[in-house]
Amino acid sequence: MNLWDQRYAHAGYFYGRDPNDFLREHVTKIPREGSVLCLGEGEGRNAVFLAGLGYDVEALDQSSVGLGKARMLAEANSVHIRTAVTNLDGYRFEGDRWDGIVSIWCHLPAAMRGPLHRQIFAGLKPGGIFLLEAYTPDQLRHGTGGPKDRDLLPSLAEVSRDLAGMEIVIGVERERVVQEGAGHSGLSAVVQIAARRPVLCR
Ligand SMILES: C[S@@+](CC[C@H](N)C(=O)[O-])C[C@H]1O[C@@H](n2cnc3c(N)ncnc32)[C@H](O)[C@@H]1O
Repeated sequence: MNLWDQRYAHAGYFYGRDPNDFLREHVTKIPREGSVLCLGEGEGRNAVFLAGLGYDVEALDQSSVGLGKARMLAEANSVHIRTAVTNLDGYRFEGDRWDGIVSIWCHLPAAMRGPLHRQIFAGLKPGGIFLLEAYTPDQLRHGTGGPKDRDLLPSLAEVSRDLAGMEIVIGVERERVVQEGAGHSGLSAVVQIAARRPVLCR
């Protein structure tokens, strides 16, 4: 059992059952009733929220325990999500497939994150939206959640660089209070991105 399986094996939902604040605020940017891929989705709170809004949702995570709880949460909310136990290391997106790709606190080593993010453009349909919230390196000073390893913490510049060709609709580093389950609690340094694959490419 890996660390995430062990964490999710406890009763309750580590990040709660409610969706992430940034996703909730900007979800309407994703084309209505479109297909959405959630990266590192864990116990499924964001996927279930999206499915409840009528999106066709697939959730990827390396943790079978987390995704098992995600399916239970979906059932409890009378929605359907697809789940796939997947290691994102070396993951290949299907081209022109998704109306939305969502990455919430999906902290990966830089050597894994770059190749993944550089495929976002191709994985989205034209007009599709990528939504990301993650802790930045400044979060190491806050100690209110997230990884303690700089390599897992992306800056806005790093994520933006990997989204070449995308229209950055929102791209900010900011501080905000995060209250998302026991795992994330308090004033935090985050990067938030909403990026659209342009409809017309010259
Ligand atoms: C901080 S949790 C966030 C979970 C969820 N996105 C949420 O907001 O509730 C990070 C998730 O990323 C997953 N993860 C980390 N590395 C991964 C990898 N290489 N492949 C797939 N999932 C990974 C973990 O299993 C964990 O569920």
